[in-house]
Amino acid sequence: MAIQRTLSIIKPDATRRNLTGQINARFEENDLRIVAQKRIHMTRSQAEGFYAVHAERAFFGDLCDFMCSGPVVVQVLEGENAVTANRDIMGATNPANADEGTIRKDFGESIEANSVHGSDSPENAAIEIAFFFSQTELVG
Ligand code: CMP
Repeated sequence: MAIQRTLSIIKPDATRRNLTGQINARFEENDLRIVAQKRIHMTRSQAEGFYAVHAERAFFGDLCDFMCSGPVVVQVLEGENAVTANRDIMGATNPANADEGTIRKDFGESIEANSVHGSDSPENAAIEIAFFFSQTELVG
């Protein structure tokens, strides 16, 4: 099994409800280590850059507005198969379709306010980690 890193974002709906600690506990209970973390208020241009892959989607504008509507916690999670492991811990994008016991099932409010983001592949994880963190900020 490969040790990987993945980018996670605790979204504004979750920071607003003071859920950072409860969400971090889900990662740690499932053997993911938080090797970098910072709380930021994203600018509109940061949100547009981060989600550029979705620029043509109808929900893009609302998604960018939402991601800068309050603080987020950007973080790097490390562990065995971290990309897939984190996606299992998060659950389906739409909380209505997420499995019991997942973060999005337990905390998500809607497909947009779904509490967390996680990279969808190791390749995108590397790109997304570099978007927010320098190498010296990753402390394994
Ligand atoms: P995330 O993993 O952050 O990646 C893109 C986000 O777009 C996704 O989670 C959702 O929160 C958001 N989104 C809003 N509407 C949709 C939609 N119709 N389909 C997929 N993602 C959506």
